[in-house]
Amino acid sequence: MASSPFLSSSTPPTSTVPNSSTIIQTSFFPKTTQLSINKKLRKPYHSAPNKVAVSCKATNNGNQQNPTPSKKNAESALNRFDRRDVLIGLGGLYGATNLAGGDPFALAAPIEAPDLTLCGEATVTDTYHVYCCPPTSEKIIDFTPPSFKKLRFRPAAHLVTDDYLVKFKTALQKMKDLPDDDPRSFKSQAEVHCAYCNGAYDQVGFPDQNLQVHFSWLFQPFHRFYLYFYERILGTLIDDPEFAIPFWNWDTPDGMPIPAIYNDPSSPLYDSKRNVAHLPPVPADLDFNGTDRGLTAEEQIQSNLKSMYRQMVSNSKTASLFHGEAYRAGDAPSPGMGSIENIPHTPIHRWVGDPREDNGEDMGNFYSAGRDPLFYAHHGNVDRMWALWKQLPGKKRTDFTDTDWLDSSFVFYDENKNLIRCKVRDCLETKTLGYAYQPVDIPWLKSKPNPRKYKKKKGSRGVAKAAGIKSDVIKSVFPIVLNKIVRVEVPRPRTKRSKYEKEDEEEVLVIQNIKFKNDEAVKFDVYINDEDDETPTGPQDSEFAGSFSSVPHRQKSSAEITTGLKLGLTDLLEDLDVEGDDSIIVTLVPRTGKVTIGGLKIDFVSS
Ligand code: C2O
Repeated sequence: MASSPFLSSSTPPTSTVPNSSTIIQTSFFPKTTQLSINKKLRKPYHSAPNKVAVSCKATNNGNQQNPTPSKKNAESALNRFDRRDVLIGLGGLYGATNLAGGDPFALAAPIEAPDLTLCGEATVTDTYHVYCCPPTSEKIIDFTPPSFKKLRFRPAAHLVTDDYLVKFKTALQKMKDLPDDDPRSFKSQAEVHCAYCNGAYDQVGFPDQNLQVHFSWLFQPFHRFYLYFYERILGTLIDDPEFAIPFWNWDTPDGMPIPAIYNDPSSPLYDSKRNVAHLPPVPADLDFNGTDRGLTAEEQIQSNLKSMYRQMVSNSKTASLFHGEAYRAGDAPSPGMGSIENIPHTPIHRWVGDPREDNGEDMGNFYSAGRDPLFYAHHGNVDRMWALWKQLPGKKRTDFTDTDWLDSSFVFYDENKNLIRCKVRDCLETKTLGYAYQPVDIPWLKSKPNPRKYKKKKGSRGVAKAAGIKSDVIKSVFPIVLNKIVRVEVPRPRTKRSKYEKEDEEEVLVIQNIKFKNDEAVKFDVYINDEDDETPTGPQDSEFAGSFSSVPHRQKSSAEITTGLKLGLTDLLEDLDVEGDDSIIVTLVPRTGKVTIGGLKIDFVSS
């Protein structure tokens, strides 16, 4: 381990003996029930765009998310009744109970589209606030899927024709030429992201909870609708209903650099606020740690393909692993990211953002990301991953059927400047929205990380002994501040599962109560049973379970974010040939920023 170029700058691991009883913490991922409801209605705290009151009230989300087990059930029932009152009061009750779920207290609680009249300033840092609210509208129209004659095909950005490029540039220039206050203008489109991501909206009925479309199951649907309207506006501006935006095909070797069409300073596709060390032909680092890893282009490509395999195949076997954790009305924001949002979506934002700028503008901060035309191509590929994910084999690779997800809604301005309310249920298939992706090769499907030769000592009881790293494993009393490499032994509740059990439930490592300041970038990596030997490990090896990665996006409701992470273990444990072991050694390696970890445990997820 010490010889790894990735690890050499870190402090050596603490040396003590594991105490597994300290490892299992209370279940972290919040249920619908762990709510704090404040019924006072929010008053708009600004009246004009140029008069912004600087106010940063902090609530401690972490306390709400992690009640003690003894109190949890009682509080749950109570909060559900409270919430029902609130929802009835708002006319937002979709159904009193969800008997199918077997829980008589369960109530429908989709996140509602924000009330634009209550949009407030967005927060970038403690001292830097911006106003990015859209105009309000008297009328809100419910979304109906478009009728169309031909599907629009979104092309890979590195493969577009000259004719296409002329059209795209014309459309984008027209969008940039619209007056700033036109909701279809490029400036307004960029601000859509700022408002939904940096705390400009509260949840309807829950003035103490910001609305946040990242770090949860809202991530994919929100961005799909966002791109849909962006595309329709561009098509309308050039009077071409078949116009489709390009996608940055970063999951294939030729597509990994920033597409050349975005790198021409005379083009409307250009943005000067990008990392100048990362211009084409440098391939993107899908595991970007905040500093360059010094890989050759070929090493980078191979590392990227392995990461894609891990995130799309091994780490996304169920809806919650792919999409992220449930986030319902009244919940604290940011319960947990899905696989693709985490990696490579987040590292690519940071890899493109300009380190010369104060806040990583444009791509490196959510408030400004939409100002870079490349953002929409990046998200085109993120969206394409959703479409691909559903086509991969595996019986649990289907979207949620939970109505709280399906009925969650957003509002966007369309190509006719109408304000449209869209529900998640209307965006599940790209074809319903009239588009599809140009079919291209998917090279990562064959890029399973390499199993290393793992030599297990006969007769040893646990992995710690077998791996010869027992003395490295910390006796950890969580929470721990991750300021050096830590190794923790985590017991496995079940071993030697059958093929059927594995298909039905994915074994996951749950990293609980990850806390950090949300205006700072954060990344840490997770390895399983990583041995102390000559070969350095990285994303290319089986031991690499995944990473946690965050784009700065301050919210006013809390300066600190509390979230969780689940990483799929089934494939990885098979590759390491340790399915019979009663524990694993988890190595946490800090990369960027200051993080606290609340606990580790192994769980099984089926949806
Ligand atoms: Cu809304 Cu890539 O972030």
